[in-house]
Amino acid sequence: MKERRTVTDILGMKNRKKIVSVTAYDYTMAKLVSDNLADLILVGDSLANCVQGNENTLSVTIEEMIYHAKMVVRGADFPLIVVDMPFMSYQADIKQGLINAGRLIKETGANAVKLEGAFDDTLEIIKKATNAGIPVMGHIGLTPQSSNVFGGYKIQGKGKDAEEKLFNDALSIERAGAFSIVLECVPYMLAKKISMNLKIPTIGIGAGPFCDGQILVINDLLGLSPFEKPPRFVKKYADLRAEISSALSKYRLEVEEENFPSLEQSYK
Ligand code: KIV
Repeated sequence: MKERRTVTDILGMKNRKKIVSVTAYDYTMAKLVSDNLADLILVGDSLANCVQGNENTLSVTIEEMIYHAKMVVRGADFPLIVVDMPFMSYQADIKQGLINAGRLIKETGANAVKLEGAFDDTLEIIKKATNAGIPVMGHIGLTPQSSNVFGGYKIQGKGKDAEEKLFNDALSIERAGAFSIVLECVPYMLAKKISMNLKIPTIGIGAGPFCDGQILVINDLLGLSPFEKPPRFVKKYADLRAEISSALSKYRLEVEEENFPSLEQSYK
């Protein structure tokens, strides 16, 4: 059995090997991801959309993150497991943020937490959590927990001022002690500049090919998402929605036509 990826392994991949990351929310997917040797699993608050059927990530609670992270930890023995800190579990108060970061690690067995943004308090939590022994992944660019402020899900870092701000935010997150940083929906040349100027790895989603690693939401990657038009940065590596629909209609027909179960699936 291979040993689980560590934060040190992830840091050591910078400029050596692209970091393969994907989200997972339950045991079955986590086991598949782990068995196929992804380096990192994010238990993303995108579970709000993918599992709960919500429009955005804002309603997810710390208890829900813990519930899903426990299943992922049970399923995945190889990748480093990072858990998202949900909306308002760290924004109101630094101390509360630290307590919640601690809960995510202590109660789930995950290895690290992720939080969005680079506000002063966020940087302080990154610093204090890291000092306390909790590795933190940053996340800038399109940060879905701020979608009401952004006015939707839009590319970030366009224009000189926005570009400069994102670049400085990335440096501040590194300085605060984060071990890696997600760049979401950022122009690829800006992502390249950030990646080249940071010592910690960047993990891109909609941020082009020059990041140190890539992450996709598992439902998008496998073609499970019900949306007709996925975002431009998504590549579908399978069409599981079609596969599952076809299996389900075959099952329905066989039950209705009394072809299932046959005697082969029956006891004497
Ligand atoms: O919640 C999530 O899935 C994420 C990724 C998009 C990085 O934060």
